[in-house]
Amino acid sequence: AFNLKNRNFLKLLDFTQEEIKFLLKLSQDLKAAKYAGIEQPRMTGKNIALIFEKSSTRTRCAFEVAAHDQGAHVTYLGPSGSQIGHKESMKDTARVLGRMYDGIEYRGYGQKIVEELAEYAGVPVWNGLTDEFHPTQILADFLTMMEHTSVPLNQVSYAYLGDARNNMANSLLVGGAIMGMDVRIVGPASLQPDADLVKQCQEIAEKSGATITITDDVKEGVAGCDFLYTDVWVSMGEADEVWKERIDLLKPYQINKETMEATGNPACKFLHCLPAFHNRETKVGEEIFQKFGLDGMEVTEDVFESPASIVFDQAENRMHTIKAVMVATLGA
Ligand code: CP
Ligand code: NVA
Repeated sequence: AFNLKNRNFLKLLDFTQEEIKFLLKLSQDLKAAKYAGIEQPRMTGKNIALIFEKSSTRTRCAFEVAAHDQGAHVTYLGPSGSQIGHKESMKDTARVLGRMYDGIEYRGYGQKIVEELAEYAGVPVWNGLTDEFHPTQILADFLTMMEHTSVPLNQVSYAYLGDARNNMANSLLVGGAIMGMDVRIVGPASLQPDADLVKQCQEIAEKSGATITITDDVKEGVAGCDFLYTDVWVSMGEADEVWKERIDLLKPYQINKETMEATGNPACKFLHCLPAFHNRETKVGEEIFQKFGLDGMEVTEDVFESPASIVFDQAENRMHTIKAVMVATLGA
């Protein structure tokens, strides 16, 4: 079948539809094997470095559990405590870690940084989120969509609402284009994806049969959709000062009961990569909600907690899909 051995996983644009299908099928197989208690370790004795220059719950835990399930060992390098980012360049770090580790995960800022790491490490590098892209998240999202629909992915429609310039919007745009899906990216004109990326995705769509809609019109964007997706309005690495401007711009793009109904599809499901801002039960939440007097941010509490919400299936699937990426690029 497909051989992804020794490949990096830096962005979806580096992969074909067949390769992504292969990773999704491998994820399903690994998930089924784990559930059945018959998982075979294919990474016994491998050592894996996990670099996190930004915080994480899901991505870190997914990499750690997936590695352990497969017989590998991990080293976690957090935002402080190593020489990365202040005392040593990425080029040197890459050459050091490449001498000790069989694979490296990187979460941080610019996409260029993870690309440089991959260029010099000499071992597979996996992107655990950059400012531009979050490719492992998309595998989990597509696996979750497959589990909640009876049609193939190229017959699925989804709309992403909100900050349509961030890593999730970019990645959902690229992923849907490659897989031949009906993708709508919905946000205000000033927060829509970069024109070059849209053009690139439109070219991919011509071959894959995908339909790409970029719009500021919520009604048009969500009509008939199988899935609605949103993400935080302010991403990691952005200044707290942008909150006010983002709330003003993005309020109309909140996913609430009315938005779900506007799809006209009673079976429409709600997706979110998480962490989500839907109530005050966090330190940041309390401050922001109080300051702006809101009832929910990118999603309301009722939608988040409704039967339509499949966000925790997504969260679980981070682990199965990340395992597939590691096994495919590094496993025996
Ligand atoms: N969705 C996601 O990447 O979550 P974490 O930031 O917790 O890793
Ligand atoms: N856009 C978010 C995604 C978190 C998984 C961020 O970058 O903070």
